[in-house]
Amino acid sequence: MMIEAHELTKTFDRFCAVDRVSLRVPAGNVLALLGPNGAGKTTTVRMLTSILSPTAGWARVAGHDVVTEPEQVRLNVGVLTEQHGLYERMKAVEYLDFFGRVYRLDASERKGRALALMERFGLSFALSKRLGEYSKGMKQKLALVRAMLHNPPVLLLDEPTSAMDPVSAKQVRDCIVELQREEGRTFLITTHNLTEAQQLADHIAVIRSGRIVANGTFDELARQFIGEPMMELHTVAPMNGLGKDLGDLVTVESQGETWLRFSTPEPSRANPAVLRRAAQMGVDVVTLAPVSRTLEDVYLQIVKEDEGSSGESGQGE
Ligand SMILES: Nc1ncnc2c1ncn2[C@@H]1O[C@H](COP(=O)(O)OP(=O)(O)OP(=O)(O)O)[C@@H](O)[C@H]1O
Ligand SMILES: [Mg+2]
Repeated sequence: MMIEAHELTKTFDRFCAVDRVSLRVPAGNVLALLGPNGAGKTTTVRMLTSILSPTAGWARVAGHDVVTEPEQVRLNVGVLTEQHGLYERMKAVEYLDFFGRVYRLDASERKGRALALMERFGLSFALSKRLGEYSKGMKQKLALVRAMLHNPPVLLLDEPTSAMDPVSAKQVRDCIVELQREEGRTFLITTHNLTEAQQLADHIAVIRSGRIVANGTFDELARQFIGEPMMELHTVAPMNGLGKDLGDLVTVESQGETWLRFSTPEPSRANPAVLRRAAQMGVDVVTLAPVSRTLEDVYLQIVKEDEGSSGESGQGE
């Protein structure tokens, strides 16, 4: 596991911001940590990067314990967290050179990598601008450059595209995909952009009020919270008795004269059988396609169910 957290907990005074969070991300995977404002995402990321010490539980990132080996974590993990107004008087080149030294890169590496990454994110023109003169999105790109400066095997990115224009956000997503697929890097990202999470993530974890309420691949979560995959079939002419006749193969959910929807746990087995049955009955099928489900549908259902269950447990307290 490149990122592993076990019952990680953070309490501020008596308020529990992160409550026994356990996460596991294998090498080369992308985990998206989703959840409403104030759910505990940033606090979790800050603990995973040794910025904030946990109240209880433990975590290892890139093989290093975040409490006892903070220096090793810093050298092996790239971090993007919410921006604070630091370093405003520094020029970008100075800022990157400073962090290059922190990461123990030699002079030529520092310069080479800084220039290449600034070029990649379209910031070459602003190398000698002071950070105080950077726009919000430019600052965020610079923070990403900083996170990637030392080529870390693990990247923890807290809302990497939140302030970015659509083209820049796409560049960042492409960059994440490339680093994952071609170089096997491991990512934990937080985002409120569910389309982005669906595109990038191998695994999705949802946190609410400090607790993980769902964790799995998109398909697993979709099955668990929405149900089995749904297919839609369209025919040229009215299909007469086909719907009734499919009952032994799939579950027909709804139908009209020339269409029907069915659900099945295993589309790859059921669909060919459905098509054979239609052919036997002399029904011409025009299309048979999955009814698309989005992470937004799944996420909204997860939050809804958790609201219901936390309401019940609230009465017992
Ligand atoms: N230093 C702190 N002192 C006290 N409470 C804090 C501190 N940092 C965070 N919190 C609280 O912990 C909770 C979780 O905050 P956190 O920043 O982790 O949320 P988040 O999931 O990142 O939200 P967002 O989507 O808005 O970024 C919030 O209720 C917040 O007020
Ligand atoms: Mg946050």
